[in-house]
Amino acid sequence: IEKDYDALSAWAANHVIDRINAFGPTKERPFVLGLPTGSSPIGMYRALVKACAEGRVSFRHVVTFNMDEYVGLPESHPESYHSFMARNLFDHIDCPKENIHILNGNASDLAAECEHYEQMIAEAGGIDLFIGGVGVDGHVAFNEPGSSLTSRTRQKTLTTDTRIVNSRFFDGDVNKVPAYALTVGVGTVMDAREVMVLINGHAKAHALQAAVEGPVTQMFTISALQLHRHGIIVCDEAATEEL
Ligand code: GLP
Repeated sequence: IEKDYDALSAWAANHVIDRINAFGPTKERPFVLGLPTGSSPIGMYRALVKACAEGRVSFRHVVTFNMDEYVGLPESHPESYHSFMARNLFDHIDCPKENIHILNGNASDLAAECEHYEQMIAEAGGIDLFIGGVGVDGHVAFNEPGSSLTSRTRQKTLTTDTRIVNSRFFDGDVNKVPAYALTVGVGTVMDAREVMVLINGHAKAHALQAAVEGPVTQMFTISALQLHRHGIIVCDEAATEEL
């Protein structure tokens, strides 16, 4: 529990930096990082960009896999997760383009795209550190309530609640929010050697409570983290209101 959002972001960024530096990645043995989108990780990304510019960390031998992407939204759309990641991280660090993986929500065969993504993660040796956020309803990536806790990368229908929450990025118009997304599964996240989840603000107080104190349930997919051997939640004081 950190005091506020800035402290949470600094803690999370330092944890990533420590893990990468302790691993000592090389071209032959890269560090594999799973990455989220959303507003929660923006402060951490800012801190990572700064640390990279200052030479405190390098992403040259880091391979990344993003959690999810909307279906049918052009990559160039400012709210696609491709655009988000370029704007907030990849355009400002030394991670080679070929090391970056983001699901293609415009693939002609979406099922094949998801299967290929899982294959690439396996070929990379699995994910060393998966970073995530949570939705107000406790979803991790786009694993909406009801998602199997052993799910793998696949297409999901977004709930109306999620589309309403995300409409703030689409001129407040829920109809502009894509109805489907490709997402890694809860099982994909749980396979990572370590999982770190960022939860901040009053709006996430119930999600945090359910994640930590509630039962493990597919209705709050983040609760699966209780079963992970190396699961960390980094939160601010505002999010702890219901603990
Ligand atoms: C979306 C993303 C999730 C993210 C969630 C919360 O649904 N697919 O990965 O955790 O939003 O976003 P925010 O951090 O903006 O609250």
